[in-house]
Amino acid sequence: MRLILSNVLLLAWCTSSALGFSSSISSSLGKTTHRSWTSVLPPLHVSIGLGPDKKMEEEGGEEATDDPVGEEKKQLVAGVDYEIPDHESFRTSRRSKLDEQCDVWFGALLGGEDDKGVLGELADEARKTLLTPVPLVNEEKLPRDHEEYTPYVSTKLPWTPLVPAFGLEEFGLPVPRRNAEAWRHFDVASLVAQSYSGSCEGTGKVMELTDDQVKSFQAQLESSGSWLADDACQARLVYINGRYAPQLSVENDLARNMDSYDSCSEEIKSYLSRLTDGFTDELVTPVQIGDDKVATSYKKLSGPDHCLGEPFSQFAINTQQGTACFAALNTRRTGAVAYVHIPEGKEGDETGERPKPVLILNAVTKNGGAASESEGMAFHPRCLVVAEKYSRLSIVQSSIDLDDMTQHVPKFYNGYTQIFVKDGANVTHSYLEESGGMVTAGVEMSDDSVEKGQPLPREIEAARPELKDTHFEAIDVHVMGDDGKYEGTIMSFGGSGRVRVAHSVSLLRPGSHATINGFSLSGGAQRTDCKTNIHHVAQGTTSEQIQKNMIGGRSTGAFRGRIRVEQSAQQTDSQQLSRSVLLSDRARAWSIPSLEIIADDVKCTHGATVSDLSEEELFYLRSRGLDRTLSRNLLMYAFANDVCTCVDPAMLTSVDSDRGLQKRLIQRLENVVPQGDRAVKGEFQSI
Ligand SMILES: *[C@@H]1O[C@H](CO)[C@@H](O)[C@H](O)[C@H]1NC(C)=O
Repeated sequence: MRLILSNVLLLAWCTSSALGFSSSISSSLGKTTHRSWTSVLPPLHVSIGLGPDKKMEEEGGEEATDDPVGEEKKQLVAGVDYEIPDHESFRTSRRSKLDEQCDVWFGALLGGEDDKGVLGELADEARKTLLTPVPLVNEEKLPRDHEEYTPYVSTKLPWTPLVPAFGLEEFGLPVPRRNAEAWRHFDVASLVAQSYSGSCEGTGKVMELTDDQVKSFQAQLESSGSWLADDACQARLVYINGRYAPQLSVENDLARNMDSYDSCSEEIKSYLSRLTDGFTDELVTPVQIGDDKVATSYKKLSGPDHCLGEPFSQFAINTQQGTACFAALNTRRTGAVAYVHIPEGKEGDETGERPKPVLILNAVTKNGGAASESEGMAFHPRCLVVAEKYSRLSIVQSSIDLDDMTQHVPKFYNGYTQIFVKDGANVTHSYLEESGGMVTAGVEMSDDSVEKGQPLPREIEAARPELKDTHFEAIDVHVMGDDGKYEGTIMSFGGSGRVRVAHSVSLLRPGSHATINGFSLSGGAQRTDCKTNIHHVAQGTTSEQIQKNMIGGRSTGAFRGRIRVEQSAQQTDSQQLSRSVLLSDRARAWSIPSLEIIADDVKCTHGATVSDLSEEELFYLRSRGLDRTLSRNLLMYAFANDVCTCVDPAMLTSVDSDRGLQKRLIQRLENVVPQGDRAVKGEFQSI
């Protein structure tokens, strides 16, 4: 009985808010229409079930529903005594076993009171943010003429228990959840089944190496291809297991390891304190909206009807990249901060010859520097880049594994890179993710196509220790000066079991431009996830994006590319193209482009394809006398090379050399070349 009654009331509620919405539309059409609309609106009826309470009819249904808190409960259902729940007791009620495991896992990474990195009070702040759960309040329903009114707020009935959005049950920032949009297609269950609660001995302290160790590390880094000699770069910062290694580095005014947080300027402190995904609401620079209004917060950007509201509402969380909690975790526990600061140049300097790169190298050894036996280790490399007015910079970040033949310990790499680009500066950024060994070739073959007595490739892959490694990186770029340029190239082709790179660029001033190139390779039993977000905030901003994904073996690869054009960003020109090549029947690929355009005077194009390599192109190459395998490899290489050539040329070196990036790429591609039946069939499929 009680149930039916509340259903009826719910219906009444919905009807009235629906009516409310339509009248708000009509009011924007003009006064006269508004009047005629409301005059033809029928009085509120509830025609199913018992009908509205008598008293409620007398008082007018709509009036009563406008303010859901307090008094009006009695107005709605006179005589029925509803219990107002204790919301806190419902906080974790929706949490499943796996969700709970996610929270325990994240809590272990965060560690105790004393587990703190080098960022001083900021680290304390981050811990506080993470450990303060969001307050449970009814989302405020604003009057329709309020400037922040949005129809996207659903106000709950007073007796409905409030529960937080996905991932916010225990922590103040959303942590991973299998059901959350940001984590869909990612292997959350096996991520949280692996503990990474250890950390390298001596974290936070500079690494002292003996001469022999210096030589041996340098040799290993050189043979991995990530090393740049002193005369090939402007500066080089080397981190091993999250600790700074000065003997391997070249420090100068442009780039140094940040020695203490307290001596930083206020500006640097404010940059370091920023979180991703809109959890730091203030924009890094005020943005002009129209002729006289200036916005300083993300929340207010696109006018009330399109406002995403608080970043911890479910609606907003669905559009996020899920990096905020990891950025805060990094702030809490990072053992070293690479700080790159390019001083002001002269106007006109920003074009011309390409500057030598600044190299930031993050290497991990096989046991991750664990002092004793450990279930798993976590590293939190941090990088801050500030490019002053009219400066030019090419920065290369590289992460690799050094095989030092000791016991493998599972590793979690949680990187956070922040880049701030000021007026007229031109920043070229390359990010190379190569950690976690090599995937096993041929895993897609069915068991009976493998020769008798031979080991099954899929079993070899399943036992590969690096499959337990996880690589996360959040790259947050703010182009905060007029005519600032940013060109970012992300190459993700390492062999870690789980890879997730999230790249977010905000274009905050007129004339700013971003080019984003991405290549992501997944093979073996890997799970890769690639996310990009281009946020056009100011007028006359431009962006170009090319994303290439190659998915083979029994792996899963997902790409989510979001472009958002705010109302303030008229005359935006934005192009996005994503191509995925699916090399095996056992692999799975998702490509999810999303365009959110609030402005009306924009040019945006996007395209997404998922296909096998083109049968026609294969045929062409074969008709020139190349055999099937060679043609196929050639096409695969050509597909990846479009993005590869955007990486700083100092890292490329020719295909003939042993260590060049292109050579390494070919080696990795060879491991995802389909084998068995599929290699000869190679049928063309396009979606
Ligand atoms: C920015 O610098 C890169 C190389 O350093 C150069 O290729 C590019 O043309 C520059 N962009 C502009 C707009 O000057």
